Amino acid sequence: MAYSPYSHYKVGAALLAADGTIYTGCNVENAAYPATICAERSAIVHAVAEGRRKFVAIAVATANGGTPCGTCRQVMREFSPKSDLLVIMTDPRRITAECTLADLLPDSFGPEHLKK
Ligand code: THU
Repeated sequence: MAYSPYSHYKVGAALLAADGTIYTGCNVENAAYPATICAERSAIVHAVAEGRRKFVAIAVATANGGTPCGTCRQVMREFSPKSDLLVIMTDPRRITAECTLADLLPDSFGPEHLKK
């Protein structure tokens, strides 16, 4: 369902919540380019809007096994306090990589850093 008329790079995401529900997302581009939202954040926003904040895994589907951008990694971190979210990258044929959020975003900043 990606809307990517500018980059023509389609991204889909499937986010597994702790209760077993799967939330999907896609990239939605904008004529004002920075207003674009990525597939991963789209899925997370979808889940949070439905009342889920605990997640087990996210799968990201692209044509070439692309990895999540920095902004998406940080947004994943918000809802993965131990950075143990499983991140699975795929291309149309196979899983291209599988790792934890900690691998993608080491020494991360999170909500706990704002506590007194
Ligand atoms: N994109 C994603 O959806 N997720 C990422 O983590 C990387 C980039 C999208 C944004 C834009 O629509 C297109 O890919 C090219 O950057």
